[in-house]
Amino acid sequence: MSEITKAVIPVAGLGTRFLPATKATPKEMLPVVDKPAIQYVVEEAVGAGMHDILMVTGRNKHALENHFDRNCELELILETKGDTERLAAVTASTALADIHYTRQRDPRGLGHAVLCAASHVGDEPFAVLLGDDLIDARDPLLAQMQQVRRRHGGSVVALMRVDPKRSHLYGCAAVERDHGSDIVRVTDLVEKPAPGTAPSDLAVIGRYLLDPAVFEVLRRTPPGRGGEIQLTDALRTLAAEGHPVHGVVFSGRRYDTGDRAEYLRAVVQIAAGRSDLGPGFVDWLRSFVDRVPAPSSV
Ligand code: UTP
Repeated sequence: MSEITKAVIPVAGLGTRFLPATKATPKEMLPVVDKPAIQYVVEEAVGAGMHDILMVTGRNKHALENHFDRNCELELILETKGDTERLAAVTASTALADIHYTRQRDPRGLGHAVLCAASHVGDEPFAVLLGDDLIDARDPLLAQMQQVRRRHGGSVVALMRVDPKRSHLYGCAAVERDHGSDIVRVTDLVEKPAPGTAPSDLAVIGRYLLDPAVFEVLRRTPPGRGGEIQLTDALRTLAAEGHPVHGVVFSGRRYDTGDRAEYLRAVVQIAAGRSDLGPGFVDWLRSFVDRVPAPSSV
């Protein structure tokens, strides 16, 4: 079975949960310690052997393209100063991968954003990584998903157990063979189920390995939840039509950086784990937590 070398990263969403920060800056460019969130996602794809990356962008997304392009003026200044460390940090994002861009003219949903990648992807399996979904590099997920695809073929989604009270915020999966195993067969999917109706506590998170058959299904998928063309609905059709869809239940560290509280957790956890910043930061954090008043008295 051919290995997946193409990754599609949709970054055309409006980021309304993070306004006003995202009024003129894409949410994927918000820094997580000293790198924009999107760079972690691209590094994850490259680490899994996906060197051909297509970003599906929209309005206000020029900063993303600039980040992965050269900044000759800045490079020259750092070179002249002999600041090799910062020069390496600046050029790292440029050399990472072969990055392409296409535009989703209207944000008509994640499924529509993926469909915008059809001509670039062609007739081969590909990965989708959501640009605001950060998987901690210490907990690799794509490699495990690739193993499942090698064994079962078809498409593979990443799942995470969520508190049933929060199921209505996610796409949720009905699965078979969920006896403590972290590999399941997906039999049905529901996008943002009404409270109390989720088929399980397994929610879809932002990593997918997809068969190109998904494009034909997306073309005939009508707008669903929120009037948007949902990738979840297309995967539901694929599963119903007998196409194998498997899930990997992920229990590692994952942050939705488009959500303010999770963004804060991402910054703190990643900074705490860094060898350069971690020790001093964790000492400060401990004394801060000891001093901080309980939320009710703030
Ligand atoms: P979200 O559900 O987070 O939507 O999209 P959003 O619009 O980006 O953010 P909020 O909810 O308003 O704060 C999930 C992913 O799908 C992409 C987003 O960029 C994000 O990576 N997306 C969503 C698109 O590329 N196009 C769309 O039309 C919708």
